Amino acid sequence: MSERKSIHGEWSSGMAFFLAATGSAIGLGNIWRFPYLAGENGGGAFILVYLACIVLIALPILIAEITLGRRGRESPLNTFRRLALDEGRSRAWAGVGFIGMLSGIIILSFYSVVAGWSLEYIWLSLRGAYQGASADRTDQLFSMLTSSPWQQMFWYTLFLALTLIIVARGVRKGLERAVWIMVPLLFVLLAVLVAYALVVGDAHAAIVYLYSVDFSRLSGHAVLLAMGHSFFTLSLGIGAMIVYGAYMPNRLSIMRAAISVAVADTVVAVLAGLAIFPLLFARHLPVAQGPKLIFASLPAAFGSLPFGFLFGAAFFALLTLAAWTSAISIIEPVVSWLVELGWSRPRSVLAVGSVVWMSSMLIDFSLNVWSGITWQGRTLFDLFNFVSSDIMLPLGGLLIALFAGWVISERSLRQELRMNRGALRLWLWVLRYVTPVGVLLIFLNALGLIRG
Ligand code: PHE
Ligand code: NA
Repeated sequence: MSERKSIHGEWSSGMAFFLAATGSAIGLGNIWRFPYLAGENGGGAFILVYLACIVLIALPILIAEITLGRRGRESPLNTFRRLALDEGRSRAWAGVGFIGMLSGIIILSFYSVVAGWSLEYIWLSLRGAYQGASADRTDQLFSMLTSSPWQQMFWYTLFLALTLIIVARGVRKGLERAVWIMVPLLFVLLAVLVAYALVVGDAHAAIVYLYSVDFSRLSGHAVLLAMGHSFFTLSLGIGAMIVYGAYMPNRLSIMRAAISVAVADTVVAVLAGLAIFPLLFARHLPVAQGPKLIFASLPAAFGSLPFGFLFGAAFFALLTLAAWTSAISIIEPVVSWLVELGWSRPRSVLAVGSVVWMSSMLIDFSLNVWSGITWQGRTLFDLFNFVSSDIMLPLGGLLIALFAGWVISERSLRQELRMNRGALRLWLWVLRYVTPVGVLLIFLNALGLIRG
C-alpha cells in the first residue's frame, strides 16, 4: 500500500470515487458516439466485438490506470516518472503522460463542440423549434447551426466555461460535489427516456436491429472502430483514470471499483441505444447518419411524438450532463500537472481552458468557413474524432499496459491491488499478452485494409 498522499486532495468515500469515475466514463461516447457507430457498422455484430474489446482490452487497462494512479498519487505525467524511478527505470516513461495530455486536449476540442450542440438543442426543444418538422427540415436546422461559426462558438464557450468553473474549485469542492448531483440525475433522466422510448417508439424493431448479429456486415475497419471506442468510452489512454485513481482512498478495492465502472458504462451505452433507436424506427428514420445522427434525425422523431418537446429537452439535458462530468476528467490530468509545477489551480484551469478553446475554434471553423479543407475526405472535425479515439487512445493504452505489465514489479502491483494470487496472475497475464497483442493485431489489420 502506498503511503503517499496527493497534494490535490482525496475522494471522501468509495461512492465518491465511483460517481466521479462513472461520470467520466459515461459521456458523449455512450449517448452520441456509440449509437451512431453501431448504426453505421451493422448493429449487433459491432456491439459484440465492442463488448469483447471492453472485457479483454479495456477493462484490464482500466484496472492498470487506477492502480498506477493510486501508487503514484500525482498527475499522470509525474506518476509515470515517479513510478519508473521507483523501479529503477528510465524517467522517459513520463512521455506517456505527455502524449495523454495531448490526446486529452484534442478530444476536448471536438467534445466541447458536440456538447455545445447539445446545449443549444435543450433550448431548441423547449422553444418547440422542431415540432412537427420533417426529417429534411431537422437536418436543415442542424446544418444551419454548424454552418454558423459564431452561433456554435457561443455554445461551446458556454460549455467550456461550465467545465472550467468546476475544475477550478478543486477535487472535493469542485469535482466531487458536481458528480454527487449530476451522476444520479443522469441515471434518472436516462431511465425516464428509456421508458418513454419503449412506450411510444418501435421497441421491437430496435431490439431486432441491436441484437441481430450479422458478421458479414462487419469490416476490419469496423473492428478498429469498436476497439477505439472501448478506450474512448472508459476514458482510457489519456490519464483521466490515472488521476482519478490518484485521489482514491487506500482502503478501497481497485478491482471492484474498476468492474463497477465498466459495467455501469456498458449498461448506459445499451440503455442509450434503447432510448434512441425505438424513436428512430417509429418514424422510419435512417440510422446510418454518422456523427449527426442524434442531432439531425432524432429531433424529427421527438417533433412528432407526444410531449416530444419535453422529452427532447430531457434527452439533450442528459447528453449535456453526461458530457460535462466527462469533460472535467479530460482536463484534470493537465490541470493537476500544472498545479504540481507550482501554478495555482485557477491559473492552470485558465491556461488549459484557453488552449482548448482555441482548438475548439479550429474544429468549429472546420465545419463551416474551412469545410473545404479536408484530408482523405475528412474534415478536421472527423480527423480529430478519428485520430484521437482510434489511434492515440489505443496507443496510449498500449503503452500503459506495457508499463504496468512489464515495468512495475509484481510485488508493487500486489501491494496496491491486494487481491488473491490467482486473480492477480490472470489479470497480469491478460495485461501482458492479450491486451498488447490485441491492440497490435487490430492496428495491423486496419492498416492493411487502408492500404489494400
Ligand atoms: N469516456 C467519455 C465518453 O464516453 C470520453 C472520455 C474519453 C473521457 C477520454 C475522458 C477521457 O464520452
Ligand atoms: Na463512456
